[in-house]
Amino acid sequence: MTGVTDQTGVLALLGAMDVEVAAIRAAIAQPRKLQVLGCDITTGTLDGHPVMLAESGIGKVNAALTTAAMAQAGASSLVFVGVAGAVAPGIKVGDAVVATSLVQHDVDITAFGHAPGVISGVLAGGVAGAALSDALASAASSIGATVYRGVVASGDQFVTSAERSAAIAAQFDAIAVEMEGAAVAQVCTRLGLPFAVLRWISDTADSQADTDFGQFVHKIADLDLAVVKQFLG
Ligand code: ADE
Repeated sequence: MTGVTDQTGVLALLGAMDVEVAAIRAAIAQPRKLQVLGCDITTGTLDGHPVMLAESGIGKVNAALTTAAMAQAGASSLVFVGVAGAVAPGIKVGDAVVATSLVQHDVDITAFGHAPGVISGVLAGGVAGAALSDALASAASSIGATVYRGVVASGDQFVTSAERSAAIAAQFDAIAVEMEGAAVAQVCTRLGLPFAVLRWISDTADSQADTDFGQFVHKIADLDLAVVKQFLG
């Protein structure tokens, strides 16, 4: 038991693509389907713990909407699981990244004095819940993953260039890129909902990224289920 989930309340489990949530969905007992804000949510229990699950679709707008829907449906905390491209040296395909904070690498209102990557009013883009993130990182390491923790940079782009990856890493001190986490962070921060983001590295966000992603992505369903079960304890 992590301690984090040792509380009353419903843990929301969110992923962008069907493959990222399919195995978790199949493992939910007494599943019940809801539609909130146009988002399909499955509620039920996982190993006896109350959960809800949704597939947001790709990108920040989808992720924001689905996060809001899960909050509306009564989530008390939220864990995002999925894949990312590594942008820091040494992080390899199959490793896990748990976000400490998140930025939107495609947001730029620096002309008006704001820090790059940050929507005004949301401190540092979003700071993940420390207790939830610690529990998620130890769950990933318990199932055998090498776990890195650091800044995750989100944008509405699948990054396939070593130059772009290096620029994002340098500008934001980021270790991984993906397409939803900072939107989840922004909504959760505004709603006061504790959250954490875990990403399995599928590629290194370079010219091979689409091929590497395609080869890795079929492994993700089982990894996501394993880490969530370990997290729930
Ligand atoms: N998710 C997995 N790999 C990615 C990449 N290279 N860019 C953005 N999102 C990703």
